Amino acid sequence: MALKGIILAGGLGSRLSPCTLVTNKHLLPVYDQPMIHYPIRTLLKAGIEDILIVTGGHFAGDFLKLLKNGNSFGLKHMNYTYQEGEGGIAAALSLAEHFVAGDKMCVILGDNIIEGNIRDAAQDFESQKSGAKILLKEVEDPTRFGVAEIKEGKIVRIIEKPKSPPSNMAVTGIYFYDASVFNFINTLKPSQRGELEITDVNNMYLERGDLTHSELKGWWTDAGTFESLRKASNLVAETGANKDFI
Ligand code: G1P
Repeated sequence: MALKGIILAGGLGSRLSPCTLVTNKHLLPVYDQPMIHYPIRTLLKAGIEDILIVTGGHFAGDFLKLLKNGNSFGLKHMNYTYQEGEGGIAAALSLAEHFVAGDKMCVILGDNIIEGNIRDAAQDFESQKSGAKILLKEVEDPTRFGVAEIKEGKIVRIIEKPKSPPSNMAVTGIYFYDASVFNFINTLKPSQRGELEITDVNNMYLERGDLTHSELKGWWTDAGTFESLRKASNLVAETGANKDFI
């Protein structure tokens, strides 16, 4: 059974204001494509074709205008759902419960762009009996991300935006979950920034001894700030994204 794919493309994109006053962050260009095209390709390259886009806000309808039924990606159908208000990554993911219908899934943040592909990780997770899998990447500025504390090759804890990072291994915005993720999300309490944190979900799997990880090959970047958006555009222009050979 192939994994379901979920792209989280909501949020206010306030770190990209004023651009995001007139469009959704994930429709902004990264080099020569709208940002949302990259996570779609990431899923397709991993063999995941049953895709749900979770979005919200004033410009949600523009996703339909751009993507339609996904025909330009060779798809016959694209699924959409609408998030009322804000609430964080885990709150957005909870809207996918109906679509997932008990299957396993790959969740990708709509502003995460990669040089290579996640086919191997997706296949590993398909043969993983239960639980979750996260992808890590070494970064220079770990304080911007969820960071894994690793002892003897094992993750012992994930800390969201730590002031003193225990490592420089960031948790990328590409996650694999079984359907029990929705039970975990139901027990979450908002963090200090008022969001239901995906890091709390990952720590729950970790405590249950059901979290695996692997390291992402090739470059990875988010594109949610002007600096990372510029970096993303440059990386795509210089080396290309979603390549087969990595
Ligand atoms: C989110 C997650 C963080 C992760 C990052 C990846 O951060 O909370 O753990 O490392 O995405 O892009 P946010 O973009 O909400 O600041």
